[in-house]
Amino acid sequence: MKAVIPAAGLGTRFLPATKAQPKEMLPVFNKPTIQYVVEEVVNSGIDDILIITGKGKRTIEDHFDKSFELEYRLEKKGKTEYLKEVQSISNMADICYVRQKKQNGLGDAISCAEKHVGDEPFAVLLGDTITYSKTPCTKQLLDVYEKYGGSTIAIERLPQEKIERYGIVDGTLMEDNIYKVDNLVEKPKLEDAPSNLGITGRYILTPDIFDKLKEIDAGVGGEIQLTDAINEQDNVYATTFEGTIYDIGNTMEWLKSSIDMALTYDDVRPEIIEHMKNKINEY
Ligand code: UTP
Repeated sequence: MKAVIPAAGLGTRFLPATKAQPKEMLPVFNKPTIQYVVEEVVNSGIDDILIITGKGKRTIEDHFDKSFELEYRLEKKGKTEYLKEVQSISNMADICYVRQKKQNGLGDAISCAEKHVGDEPFAVLLGDTITYSKTPCTKQLLDVYEKYGGSTIAIERLPQEKIERYGIVDGTLMEDNIYKVDNLVEKPKLEDAPSNLGITGRYILTPDIFDKLKEIDAGVGGEIQLTDAINEQDNVYATTFEGTIYDIGNTMEWLKSSIDMALTYDDVRPEIIEHMKNKINEY
């Protein structure tokens, strides 16, 4: 299976930090966001990756490319730990790139993957969204896909204040945490939302999605919405997953993700906790 990582968006919610750098390259504690995403793909058993890029996104390609000069300098200085780390990034997976010419929305970005993906189901991981879980989120989705066979979406139970910002699932419970999707509503008003089950940013899609993307008109925000195209598919499932998901395009979630990721390191945790205790007392 192949994985597609859309990373061409403008990142307006994170301006000015994203004026001259892609939001997908914003560091979460010690690594750029998109490196977590690529690691999730690889840890889910997929090694063929297509990243959808666009204007101003070249640093993403540089990050996953081999850097002869840097490697040479690190080797000369005997910085072997850094050298190994830098080399492992460029050896992680086969990564191809295609540019989305105009930022016409997530659905339009996925259309750009048609030639590379062909007539096979494929995984989609938003390049600005990271997950933290024992079993990678995409692997959990693949397990559900293997059982039910249709497009499969990762969802999370949202608090009320987030509902108007997400695509929301109207579904029928099949078994614990797995729903057959009857309808998807993109960014509904709270009173119109059919549930609190929000689409998160991880999908397994069947290839008929490409035809559906051609058929639909622009939706919310005048953009081609992936949610609208999935809505046209016949056999769609949604599942909650074991773990946490962070939308890095939202400044507050980015900050929380950095703290949470730092706390996963035994050697860093005590200092962070001490710092937070001091801050709690101060405020
Ligand atoms: P968002 O919905 O966060 O949109 O994209 P955005 O334009 O990047 O950010 P804001 O709303 O202006 O702050 C979700 C994912 O889809 C990609 C983004 O790069 C991000 O990883 N995307 C979005 C595209 O690749 N192309 C698009 O036209 C829109």
